[in-house]
This record gives sequence, C-alpha cells and structure tokens, in this order.
Amino acid sequence: MLTNHELAARIDTSDAWIVARTGIHERRIAAPEEATSDLAFAASVQALQMAGLSAQALDLVLVATVTPDMQTPACAVHLAHKLGAKNAFAFDIGAACAGSLFAMSVASQYIATGAAKKVLVVGAELLSRITNWEDRGSSILFGDGAGAMVLASTEEADGPERGLLSLQLYSDGSASDILCIPAGGSRTPLTAETLALQHNTVQMRGREVYKFAVTALVQATERIVHEHNIPMEQIKHVVAHQANARILEAVLERLKIPLEKACINIGRYGNTSSASVPLTMDEANRAGKLQPGDLILVMAIGAGMSWGAGLIRW
Ligand code: ACO
Repeated sequence: MLTNHELAARIDTSDAWIVARTGIHERRIAAPEEATSDLAFAASVQALQMAGLSAQALDLVLVATVTPDMQTPACAVHLAHKLGAKNAFAFDIGAACAGSLFAMSVASQYIATGAAKKVLVVGAELLSRITNWEDRGSSILFGDGAGAMVLASTEEADGPERGLLSLQLYSDGSASDILCIPAGGSRTPLTAETLALQHNTVQMRGREVYKFAVTALVQATERIVHEHNIPMEQIKHVVAHQANARILEAVLERLKIPLEKACINIGRYGNTSSASVPLTMDEANRAGKLQPGDLILVMAIGAGMSWGAGLIRW
C-alpha cells in the first residue's frame, strides 16, 4: 500500500491536495516480483470459485490491460496457462481504462453468436510500472489491481431479462495526445533518450482529460438510457471506472443521479485503469449491494480516447 502521506514525502504534494482533487487516500502497489498476470490470476480464481466453474470450462479468456507481462505473447495467454484453461483461446483487449467494458462487449458478442459459452473477462493493471513517479500531476492517481468476472448466456442461467442488456462503445483518436504512453511502440521505440525523458510512462494533460471524460460519459449515458427508454430513476447502482472521484461526481450531477447510487472505492485503490470496473462490481456484489433485478449503469473512459456505457440487469 502507498498512502498520500508517503507520496508527499517523495514529491511536492500533500494528502489534503490529493484528497480534495481526486478522492484518493491510498493505492495498492504490486510486489517487485509480481506481474500483471499474477494479479489477474488471483482475481480469476475468485471469480471462477464464485461462478462454480473450473478453468477447463472456459472457452475464452480476455484480459483488458495496458500493462501486459510482456509485449507479446498476450497477458491473457499467460493467465490461461496459469489457470489451466486448456480449452480456451485467449487474447488481450487494449482500450486503456475503458478496457473491461470493451472486453465485456467482445465476450457478449462471442456468447451471442454461440462461438463461446463461458468467457472469463479480466481487467488487470500494474500501473505502478508505467507511472512517472516524479510527475505529481499523474503519479498521485494510479494504483495496481485486478478484477475478474465470468460471462455466460442468460438463457442458461436466469432468463432473457437479466444480464448485460446493452453496451455502447466509442473511440476518438483525435484526442490521443491528451493521455498516452508515447514511447515503446513502433512509432517511437525505446531508446536511452526516450527512457531518460520517461516517455515510457503515462503522459497526461489532466485538465483536458477531465473535461473530455465528463462530457463523453454524460452523453454516452444519456444515449443508452434514452434508446432503452429507461427513466434515470430506475438506475439502482452506478459501477463506473474510478478515474477520479470528482469526474464521477460531476457526471452524476449532470445526469441527476444521486451520488449515493455510485459504488466508490477510489479512496482505497486509486485509479486502476481497466481493473476498476470489475473490481468495483465484485466489491459491491460481495458486500451484498447488488440484488437480483437491480439495474446497474456501468461506464468507463480511458486513453484513446475510448469510452462506453452499459446497462446490466443483475
Ligand atoms: N500536488 C499539489 N499541487 C499539484 C499537484 C499535486 N499532486 N498536481 C498539480 N498541482 C498543481 C499544479 O501545478 C497547478 O499549480 P498552479 O496553479 O500553480 O499552476 C495546480 O495544482 C492546478 O493543477 P491542475 O493540473 O489544473 O489541477 P486539476 O484541478 O486539474 O487536478 C488532476 C489535476 C487531479 C490530474 C485532474 O486534472 C484530473 O483528475 N484530471 C483527470 C485525469 C484523470 O482522471 N486521469 C486518469 C487517467 S485517465 C482515465 O482514467 C480517464
């Protein structure tokens, strides 16, 4: 665990500033010997246990991550191997902090076509490895974590009215420079110079990300509830990417959804990118907050920009 006070001992910031601007008090940092698939494995074991499934029952393993164990093979392949998911094919989804929503969408399409029946969807990140710890504008936000869920056809389980009702996704590459890791890809390979500039870490124009995120999440939510003719009041819970508590507050205020409906854990974990939606959903579920029939609004936004909103009937 890394608290704001510990951060303030390293860089020019304070607990009060971080809490006021982000809602974050502390974040988890993986051990040096851990990789993303290790966190993903721990979360997946719990998800499979809850679903009452063995790893061999899985047809597909998806990992949403911007911090795979290595460039290639995919983190999902490492995870499937560790789990013993011998009957599954596996690949990663790259949509930054919106990754778990994109992975849920891919999973639901495979399930809808019958190409896969049981899909493990994991969001896992070791953001501490791609954080510039000297940059007080971004390092205060990020934490490590993982969350996992098993998706299967509702026909097999609980009837057509339950499960993932709809998920709408968006991408806008014109804003790719406000949040990115510029070096380490084919355009700007890693060199001594790019490493010295820390261009292998997250570069973020925070204020612009903030504004983009609020507008995009409000529009995406308004559209999905409108298209499904669902009054905003029917939403029982909001499970959103925990980017920054202020973003979530601003979005819900504009949507006129009471903040109490939001499941918020950013204070303890910080921004864990694609891990945050499954992690938050799992915490809310294990706490007994999500009851059968409850309507849940999910939403997330991340680098790209990539974002989306969805409706789940629990
Ligand atoms: N401690 C103290 N002061 C700081 C810190 C810090 N850690 N960071 C910045 N400041 C200072 C700045 O230098 C600036 O000082 P100045 O006025 O003297 O120039 C002042 O605080 C305000 O800086 P801003 O960057 O304008 O602060 P802002 O209110 O925008 O908060 C923050 C910064 C928290 C990053 C905010 O912009 C934000 O949350 N943006 C969204 C980004 C986000 O959530 N990214 C997550 C990853 S992407 C995703 O998940 C969607």
